[in-house]
Amino acid sequence: MKSIKRKYHFFRSYHADPPWDTNVSPPELINFLTYRLPGRALDIGCGTGTNLICLAEHGWQAEGIDYIREAVRKARRKLQDKKLVLSVYYGDFLTSTRLQGYYDLILDIGCYHSLPDEDKRSYEKKITNLLARQGYLLMHGYLKSDSPRRGITQKDIELLSTRFRMDFAERGTGLHERPSIWMLFRRE
Ligand SMILES: C[S@@+](CC[C@H](N)C(=O)[O-])C[C@H]1O[C@@H](n2cnc3c(N)ncnc32)[C@H](O)[C@@H]1O
Repeated sequence: MKSIKRKYHFFRSYHADPPWDTNVSPPELINFLTYRLPGRALDIGCGTGTNLICLAEHGWQAEGIDYIREAVRKARRKLQDKKLVLSVYYGDFLTSTRLQGYYDLILDIGCYHSLPDEDKRSYEKKITNLLARQGYLLMHGYLKSDSPRRGITQKDIELLSTRFRMDFAERGTGLHERPSIWMLFRRE
């Protein structure tokens, strides 16, 4: 039930103007891409594809997945306009069978933090199966605060750190001054 409400929230957002959909890739991603050799990348919860374009422009062979049809439609159109041929899958990352092989980079901006706990555990397992050795997981999300809203907890960070080596974590604030975090993990 909670998952349906969550999906409905995203569904409604994409039929208006979601506040996160800025058409600008964050400097943390650009900085990461500037200093790494390109490879195969997956953008989980890719939204309308802004970061897929950024990955492709930095030479990455990128794929995206999102479970809101409208977001996928907009992403495909944006890629077409840029004459970029990339796969954007419509589906739930947690259950999709479309994702095959290993990725050198998995990007998650704003998906993991909104998952309920049990889905976070499935997500971590799935990432472990999809990330190449020495591959990176670059993640940005809101931290759980006192409000009833979801977010990344200290326990989540510890669980991710038992699976992957944490290369850096940088705390900041996002929309409406909500505490947020950028994290880079590496699979050993
Ligand atoms: C806050 S938005 C961020 C979108 C994009 N990463 C960006 O930075 O513009 C989170 C995205 O995750 C997608 N999402 C959430 N849960 C998902 C799931 N289980 N499978 C696929 N996409 C999901 C939502 O539809 C939404 O597009």
